[in-house]
Amino acid sequence: MNIFVTGGCGFIGSNFIRYWNSMFKEDKIINLDKLTYAGKLSNLSDIESNKNYEFIKGDISNSKLIENLLKKYNPTFIVNFAAESHVDRSIIYPEKFITTNILGTFKLLTNVNNYFSNLSKKKQDDFRFLHISTDEVYGSLKKEDAPFKETNKYFPNSPYSASKAGSDHIVRSFNKTYTLPTLISNCSNNYGPYQSIEKFIPLTIYNALNNKKIPIYGDGMQIRDWIYVKDHCEALKTILLKGKPGEVYNIGSSNEEKNINIAEKICNFLDFSIPLKRNKSYSEFIKFVKDRPGHDFRYAIDSNKIKKSLGWEAKTSISDGLELTIKWYLNNKEWVKESSGKSFIEWIEVQY
Ligand code: NAD
Ligand code: TYD
Repeated sequence: MNIFVTGGCGFIGSNFIRYWNSMFKEDKIINLDKLTYAGKLSNLSDIESNKNYEFIKGDISNSKLIENLLKKYNPTFIVNFAAESHVDRSIIYPEKFITTNILGTFKLLTNVNNYFSNLSKKKQDDFRFLHISTDEVYGSLKKEDAPFKETNKYFPNSPYSASKAGSDHIVRSFNKTYTLPTLISNCSNNYGPYQSIEKFIPLTIYNALNNKKIPIYGDGMQIRDWIYVKDHCEALKTILLKGKPGEVYNIGSSNEEKNINIAEKICNFLDFSIPLKRNKSYSEFIKFVKDRPGHDFRYAIDSNKIKKSLGWEAKTSISDGLELTIKWYLNNKEWVKESSGKSFIEWIEVQY
């Protein structure tokens, strides 16, 4: 079977390709990625020479290219990770988010739908288009609110979440109007190997290890529901194999943590494993900085639907996941060096 992945050189996409390859060795994986600042070929250097893996540099908006690739590779599954994904960047450069996340998804869907309509009945029955989305489309929760269900209304607050919300609606419309067998997953904040250094957990690890300021936006009391990326990949496999076309599945790990607590946990782990001189603690590098505009207070996921209907459940606790993640960053210094050249975060601080 052939599986066509977009955005596979990014954080979650590369973890997904590695995971799929380890589970289904016979499947051919085709990875289309534009290689923006977030996409790195080195994220998949361990599988690039695999005969069942093919990389193509390109944009999901390039209709001719997509049409030719679909014809050539005849995929059964398409998984769309390609997106601009960083909220802070969306505040400063919103247009890119609209272009890729909304228009790009629309163009991709149009070509996928043309491809789908020419498939045999048997191929159509097996075909799935899985769109990877985020819990941020549901907006911000108060402390006492129930976690997000699939039936929650969309209340996006950043250009990023608004663009993802737009793309989800377009995917839905292709299912309802053209009966394209689409699936949408809305997942909470991921962490783990290969995450870009400008996101919160890798940035905290990187800055602590380099004795640089660890920036905490506002009062650090915002809550995220952290999921280890491998658990997310397993959920996506489950949705592809068992999910019902047209359905939406929320994916979370029930690991709600305040940002300041995450930073403290990372610092405590490093204090224990790589102690600083003179009994100093890495937490001394934590500094409260100006808040992100429109900063969502809390995200939390109700995963009951995927648990009950598809039998998936996250396995990794936040302490195990953080330990695996910190060790990965410690053991992959070359990757970190290659990925940390950009000073976007320092620039952000000047902007806010
Ligand atoms: P990422 O920024 O690390 O990777 C995005 C990838 O998409 C990069 O490799 C980039 O080069 C590629 N890309 C960007 N624009 C493209 C285009 N026009 N055509 C082809 N490729 C393009 O993002 P991520 O964290 O891996 O997130 C992947 C997906 O999962 C996104 O759709 C995101 O919205 C969603 N998501 C992320 C999280 C999270 O916590 N990171 C949580 C839930 C959902
Ligand atoms: P982030 O990794 O950007 O994910 P998202 O905004 O999509 O949830 O940020 C996670 C949380 O950490 C979010 O509440 C913003 C906060 N944050 C900081 O406090 N400092 C930072 O330097 C960054 C990048 C994020």
